Amino acid sequence: MKLFDVYPLNDIIIDKAFGSHVWDDKGTQYLDLYGGHAVISIGHTHPHYVKRLTDQLNKVGFYSNSVKMPLQEQLAALLGKVSGKEDYQLFLCNSGAEANENALKLASFYNGRKKIIAFRKSFHGRTSLAVAATDNPKIVAPVNETDNVVFLPWQDEAALEAAFKQYEVAAVIIEGIQGVGGIQVAGESFLRKIRSLCDEYNAVFIADSIQCGYGRSGKFYSHDYAGVNADIYTMAKGMGNGFPIGGISIAPKFKAVYGMLGTTFGGNHMACAAALAVLEVIEQENLMANAAKIGNYLIEQLRNFKEVIEVRGRGLMIGIELPDSLANVKKDLLFKHRIFTGEAKPNVIRLLPSLALTQEHADQFLEAFSKEVK
Ligand SMILES: Cc1ncc(COP(=O)(O)O)c(C=O)c1O
Repeated sequence: MKLFDVYPLNDIIIDKAFGSHVWDDKGTQYLDLYGGHAVISIGHTHPHYVKRLTDQLNKVGFYSNSVKMPLQEQLAALLGKVSGKEDYQLFLCNSGAEANENALKLASFYNGRKKIIAFRKSFHGRTSLAVAATDNPKIVAPVNETDNVVFLPWQDEAALEAAFKQYEVAAVIIEGIQGVGGIQVAGESFLRKIRSLCDEYNAVFIADSIQCGYGRSGKFYSHDYAGVNADIYTMAKGMGNGFPIGGISIAPKFKAVYGMLGTTFGGNHMACAAALAVLEVIEQENLMANAAKIGNYLIEQLRNFKEVIEVRGRGLMIGIELPDSLANVKKDLLFKHRIFTGEAKPNVIRLLPSLALTQEHADQFLEAFSKEVK
């Protein structure tokens, strides 16, 4: 059997990983500023994480959601504390798309409506409703097409107000910082406008925090910069530092009903152990403050390069927009300097490293970047 060939691959086999570094099968070391696509939040193979998962696997790896799982309650309590939303409720699932799918369903169950407002260049996942709310027709199959989703221009308050007047809005879903869309930071005034319109019309504010959340921006949810709460936060990626887990953090006004949401694997013992280890390390090592500090440093330094069109982002979620003449920089960083970075089309380098990235790593990147752009 062959693999279904959907990914354009770099010709590299990763064999070992630790902290902000990975090694290939020939022993070559790479600096990882991509974090396996914003997934590695506390660093590769962190000893506390490895120990917690190993200990858990030796006790019980899986049992279904038909029995009590104190680990889920511990995770909910710690997530409430670290995220500053202690009165919210947690539903656990397995991926980002599934988190958004559940959030959109819950919103529709809540107010009985169908219309979802999403924004241009948004990415919310590949399952049926999540992909319908994603602004990329190439990945929407005919069966996913629906007129339940309306796409509005990014940060257009007048268009948002008009949409609320025109439709019975069930929910507004927005990434605090668009990732696939090229690292576009949602402005504080726009997020506050969403909050006030959702309050006025009893619609649900869904904060897609799958890429920009979990401390990456320097605050737990990047939407927190606006000083207002969303009704539902969706998360995945950094939540398990590579162990598949997703979740939604749900405001107190939503009342759970048996059977309303459900999953076989979501919130299993191993996933909870991974997610607890991540939050423990984020707290113990003060990683949100580190993400803010090293992120600000990188953003400041990168803004000094006159070759760069624009630097956008917050904390350790950074986009560097380059002109066409510098289209090779990402490849050269990887193959000449052994530094992994991400990208957004057409020519944005995306930095999504572990939140434990050090100043020394940042300087190593800046030196290599400087050589390539000059
Ligand atoms: C903002 C955002 N939402 C949703 C998703 C989907 O997550 P997953 O790939 O875990 O389904 C992603 C993944 O890149 C994302 O960046």
